[in-house]
This record gives sequence, C-alpha cells and structure tokens, in this order.
Amino acid sequence: MSLSKRILVIGATGVIGKVLLDALLNAKDEFETIGIFTSPATVESKNDMIESFKARGPDFDTIVSAVGRFAIDKQVDLIKLAEQSPSIVRFIPSEYGTDIAFDTSSATEKPHQKKLKVRNYLEKSGEVNRLKYTYLVSGPFADLYAGFFEAEPRAGHFDTIKYEAILAGDAGDASGGGPVGMTTVADVGRALVGVLRHPEASDNKAVRVHSYVCTPKEMLAEYERQTGKKWKVSYTSMEELKKIEEDAWAAEHPVSAIFTLRRIWAEGKTLYEKTENEAIGLTKTDTLEMVVQANIQTPQSAFQSGKL
Ligand SMILES: NC(=O)c1ccc[n+]([C@@H]2O[C@H](COP(=O)([O-])OP(=O)(O)OC[C@H]3O[C@@H](n4cnc5c(N)ncnc54)[C@H](OP(=O)(O)O)[C@@H]3O)[C@@H](O)[C@H]2O)c1
Repeated sequence: MSLSKRILVIGATGVIGKVLLDALLNAKDEFETIGIFTSPATVESKNDMIESFKARGPDFDTIVSAVGRFAIDKQVDLIKLAEQSPSIVRFIPSEYGTDIAFDTSSATEKPHQKKLKVRNYLEKSGEVNRLKYTYLVSGPFADLYAGFFEAEPRAGHFDTIKYEAILAGDAGDASGGGPVGMTTVADVGRALVGVLRHPEASDNKAVRVHSYVCTPKEMLAEYERQTGKKWKVSYTSMEELKKIEEDAWAAEHPVSAIFTLRRIWAEGKTLYEKTENEAIGLTKTDTLEMVVQANIQTPQSAFQSGKL
C-alpha cells in the first residue's frame, strides 16, 4: 500500500483549502513535497489548468482537491488526467461536508448531485482502475454553524453582539432541533493528514469524522454560559425551514444549497453509527467550548464568503 508523500493541493486558496494546506504544512516532516495548484481564473478555465497540471503531475503522488461547490463536477477531468499519470496514486475529491450517501433520500438532494457524479465516476464508470480515493465527510463546519447568518437568520443564527439566536428545527423535539455532528475546520485539516497517514483505513471509502455532536440548544446554552447573558431565542420549525428552502430554490438564491443542507442537518442526517475518528488517529478534537469562545472573540459568518 503506497503512502502519500508528494501532495498537490488544488483549491488551496479557498475556505477549507487554506486550512488543509496549513495542516499539511504543520505535518511537513512526514511529506517530501507539498505543492499547490492555483489558477487565477479558477477551475472553469480548465485547459490552462490541465496543461499546467500535466507539467507538474509527475512530481506528485497524491492530489488533494478542495475546489469550491460550483466547480465540483470539473473534478472528473482532473481524475481522468490523474488516472493517466502513473506517478499519481491517490485522489482526494472535494467533499468535507454532509454525507451524500447517508440514506436513500440523499440520492435526490439537489446540493449533492455534483459530488455524487464525482463519486459515480470514481466508483462506477470503469475508467478508474488504478487511483485510490477517500471521501472525507465532516458534516457542517462547526465554526460556521455557530456563526451568524445575516442573509437568512431563520435558517440558524447565533448573534454574539445582540445576544440573539434563531435555532433551526422545532424546539428540540424528534422532528428537528436534535443533535448535529460537526467538525471544526482545523479538525478537518487534521483529519486529512490522518487520512494520508492511514491509507489502510481510508482507501476507496468514505471516512466520516466529527469534532463533536451537539444540539442547537446546547450551543445556545454554551453561548449563554460564556457571555453570562440570557439570550433572546426563537425557533424555525422544520415546516418553516422546508418552506424557506423551497423559496430559495424557486428564487434561484445563490446559496440555495446552504438552506437544503441546514434542513438535512436538522433532520439528524449527520449522525452516523460510528465515525472513523479513531481509525485515522483523530483522537483529540476541538470542543464546543472552544468554538463558542472563538466566535465570541471573532464573530463568524455562518456562510463562508462572509458576505451573507
Ligand atoms: N461542511 C461545511 O460546512 C462546508 C462549508 C464550506 C465548504 N464546504 C465544502 O468544502 C469544499 C470546498 O469549498 P470552499 O468553500 O472551501 O471552496 P471555495 O472557497 O468557494 O473555493 C475553493 C477554490 O476552488 C477553486 N475554484 C476554481 N474555480 C472555481 C469555481 N468556478 N467555483 C468555485 N471555486 C472554484 C478556487 O481555487 P483557485 O483560485 O486556487 O484556483 C477556489 O479558491 C466543497 O466541497 C464544499 O462543499 C463544506
């Protein structure tokens, strides 16, 4: 089983890409080369990228992709090329999120379609015979989940300035507001290093990790404890959440996917029978207390661009 020693990161300037690169650099003694591929134009301008990738390909044995949501399906071209490049043995596609094969309902969820297409190409096209792959499944980024969501606070919102929260899901009953498994971005970085260290536990499968599991109410309680204030709280029922989601898709809202994901998380679809934390050596994880403390110090937007 070949170990990953020469790593090329694509999308290394993005929200999660820069954290992944940081984690790899923190473990750089374990690797021979860590390179990044960044195109000024983005993966859409794939001809340039592919030429460049070709030129650099022989230098690397592993591709870590962290391309953004709108470029997910472009990875099929990259995988095709990686499969033809004898030095490359492993491709980690851009996932780092919700389990897109959680149950039968996952297959029809709109935000999952491009990632499913990539998985399908890797697993079922018959075109990939040599490359190993791992889907790193983290659930929501805990840091963002605990943030404010200005564009649509009803989808879940923690405002550390006004001490107000809107909790997505009914008031803690079985239909919503229940526990959500989430991972801090720093732990996603550590998990990536763990995946590369442990191909025996990671090759050709989904590796599911969590930093912790908590309910929106538990998150609120931690905010109240750390701020020493009683927060103003309201709830968005599952019914309302579904309506917000439908309206967002109908209006072609640029981040409709986020609304669907929030509904999926509130439905309990981040709770796995078991995680692979231990199998990849992710034994010490960040905590809810740390995330809340960090968000009080530097309020985070619940959507990665910071604009919404
Ligand atoms: N679990 C969660 O809560 C959560 C949150 C956010 C993201 N994610 C997942 O993390 C992965 C990466 O997302 P991200 O938010 O980190 O990505 P991002 O910041 O939007 O973009 C990452 C990089 O992708 C490259 N890119 C090129 N063409 C692009 C295009 N047309 N559209 C978007 N990106 C393009 C760019 O790299 P260069 O400029 O270097 O070429 C960009 O810096 C995705 O799979 C996403 O679903 C998960």
